[in-house]
Amino acid sequence: METNLQKRRENKKSLRVKVISLGNAEVGKSCIIKRYCEKRFVPKYLATIGIDYGVTKVQVREREIKVNIFDMAGHPFFYEVRNEFYKDSQGVILVYDVGSKESFDSLDSWLGEMKQELGSHANMENIVFVVCANKVDLTKRRVVDESEGRLWAESRGFHYFETSAQSGEGISEMFQAFFSSIVDMCENGGRRPVSGVNVGFTREQADTIRRIRSSKDSWDMLGVKPGATREEVNKAYRKLAVLLHPDKCVAPGSEDAFKAVVNARTSLLKNIK
Ligand code: GTP
Ligand code: MG
Repeated sequence: METNLQKRRENKKSLRVKVISLGNAEVGKSCIIKRYCEKRFVPKYLATIGIDYGVTKVQVREREIKVNIFDMAGHPFFYEVRNEFYKDSQGVILVYDVGSKESFDSLDSWLGEMKQELGSHANMENIVFVVCANKVDLTKRRVVDESEGRLWAESRGFHYFETSAQSGEGISEMFQAFFSSIVDMCENGGRRPVSGVNVGFTREQADTIRRIRSSKDSWDMLGVKPGATREEVNKAYRKLAVLLHPDKCVAPGSEDAFKAVVNARTSLLKNIK
């Protein structure tokens, strides 16, 4: 009884957490934070110089949490200023602009920079990550679709949200899920709960979909050498079909990848005697 009471008291205690924002310059990190904290949007670009720091209080379930937000500058020029702010973060907001493929492709290097700064002993598993596919209001210039972004995020156990700092779409939902996962983690002894993001697909399925999307021709897509035999093509096809069949695979983009594999096999077989 007493331990339950103690536990409840413990849970109601206020928490202090540190979160950081990461992503290329101009993707909208500062605007996302401003939209949430100040409920406004500034269309003019004011590059963050080094770091912007702010504090906000939020309520998650019965707990009050004091959030220290370190909004990083995305420009490479500020690396020397940024690098010392990575440590002791419980949460990371990773942002890209859906109208810039480059900003999406850079997410891996942002994780790389963070890992490098934290050192090899650091455990990235105990940090909550949320990926914001930002500027979804600008539909005409969109080049990174939802399935591609979601796949990248969820295959790593990260949350994924489509956001617009301009319209406010997705912003409060994103922060709510983000803070709630951080509280779950703190209540779980500082470890990200395994069920944090229930993806329902494997890393192999995610990697295969990504490989298929970036393949340069039908041979490459099936993972066989140009000039392969019918048997080799069929064998490779069967393996991919089992992995990606829409009845078995729920990964974002699996249906399109499956269709692409079917078409690749058909076109190759047409030309093989
Ligand atoms: P750095 O501080 O240089 O790393 O950039 P940042 O990622 O903080 O970008 P910032 O929030 O300053 O926004 C960059 C530009 O994009 C500004 O002109 C914003 O008005 C604009 N912007 C940000 N979010 C959105 C959005 O959701 N939709 C639209 N249309 N514009 C946005
Ligand atoms: Mg900024």
